Amino acid sequence: MDHTESEGQGRGGCPASADLLARPLEFISEDHLRERQICAVIDGLIMAISLDRRAALAVLRFVNEELNVHLRDEAEDLFPLLMQRCTAEDSIEDALDRIKADQLAVIRLLPDVRAALAGCLDTGADLSASERAMLTQFAAHMRRHLVAENAILLPIARARLTQADLQLLSAHMRARRGLAPDPDLIDVD
Ligand SMILES: [Fe+2]
Repeated sequence: MDHTESEGQGRGGCPASADLLARPLEFISEDHLRERQICAVIDGLIMAISLDRRAALAVLRFVNEELNVHLRDEAEDLFPLLMQRCTAEDSIEDALDRIKADQLAVIRLLPDVRAALAGCLDTGADLSASERAMLTQFAAHMRRHLVAENAILLPIARARLTQADLQLLSAHMRARRGLAPDPDLIDVD
C-alpha cells in the first residue's frame, strides 16, 4: 500500500474534534455525521468502475481508527447509561435492540471490509461484485444505526442523562482516545 496517499479533502470529512468531548452527546452526533459522509464515500466506491484509491484509503482509515472507538463509546457507556436513566414510558428497549443488531452486523463485516479494501489497495485490483455487495450491506447497517440513534436515542439521552452521567461519559470517551482527563472537570462533584 502506498502510505504517502492522503485521505483528500471532501471525501469523508474529518473526525470529530477532541474539543467536543466536553459535550459527549454532541461528539457522538458529529461521529454520526462522519459516518454518513463515509457511507457516501462507500457508495462512490461501489459505483465506480475502477478503484478510487484515495476513497478506499479514507474508508479503511475510518474503520481502523474511528469506527471501533465510536461503537465502544455507545456499547460500553451510552447504552448502559440510557438503560439506567430511562423510564418504562421511554420504551427504548426495542429501539436499542435494533440498534445493537445493526452494530453487531457492522462489527461482523469489519474484517471483510478491511480485507477487501486493503487487498485492492495492495494489488491495484478493482472491487469484485461480491465485495461491492458486502460494502453495500455494511453501509446499509451503518446508516440504519446512525439514523435510529439520531432520531431516538440521542434526543432521549439529552433529556434523561444527568450532568454527572455526561461527565462520566466524557471522561470514558477521553480515556478511550488516550487523552488525559479534562482539567475543568477534575475534582468536580
Ligand atoms: Fe452511533
